[in-house]
Amino acid sequence: MADRKLIAGNWKMNGTHADLERFGAYAELAADAPQQVRVALAVPHTLLFSAAERAAGSRLGIGGEDCHANENGAHTGCVSAPMLHAAGASFTILGHSERRADQGETDADVKAKAEAALRAGLDLIICVGETEAERDAGDAESVVGRQLAGSIPECNPARLTIAYEPVWAIGTGRTPTVEDVAAMHDHIRSALAARFGEAGQGVLILYGGSVKASNAAELLSASNVGGALVGGASLKIEDFRPIVEAAA
Ligand code: 13P
Repeated sequence: MADRKLIAGNWKMNGTHADLERFGAYAELAADAPQQVRVALAVPHTLLFSAAERAAGSRLGIGGEDCHANENGAHTGCVSAPMLHAAGASFTILGHSERRADQGETDADVKAKAEAALRAGLDLIICVGETEAERDAGDAESVVGRQLAGSIPECNPARLTIAYEPVWAIGTGRTPTVEDVAAMHDHIRSALAARFGEAGQGVLILYGGSVKASNAAELLSASNVGGALVGGASLKIEDFRPIVEAAA
């Protein structure tokens, strides 16, 4: 368990069909990674079907970045979990801080989406993380604890991955110290163990927020860090490859 790692890229609102020309290199990277290191990419809805087609039969996992809590209906512009699954996604990110901030998603919203994703056969990457003001006020652990309690649905923990992404570290080039990452991941592990018992020990806890080639090895070696959720550095294979290599 402890030696199992997941390096997941989150393309966010980046990429068009033309960028899928480079997908072969991501599939190769996944294929070359040691057995205990899995590689995945979450891509915009518009790319899912083609990305999944290109990744078919490879070790590269493909997922979505969000889904609606309903299966279908009058929700203009939204995409449901069964739609993601039918397009070839095997997982989806939920509760990313950018969605919590931009779309006002609450823990209850994230939980409802997560339930929909599970029903559709998608595994979950649920994101949590404090703002800078919350950290400065000494509230980081209580904020993350509340997000975990409110966002995680009743589920088989084997289908759950948590991503700890301090909001102030996303896209800023700043990261917490390795000690702070370890302390938060230990805190999340305790919450998962309290919730799921022994099975909570097996849930991967990813770190996300300005992960790059130069800091990946150190962050990935911290206590209870089971991998990374990578934004900017997942967009180019040259930046992503060393992060996957650091996990090996
Ligand atoms: P960056 O790696 O660009 O900081 O983004 C992290 C993130 O939000 C991944 O979900």
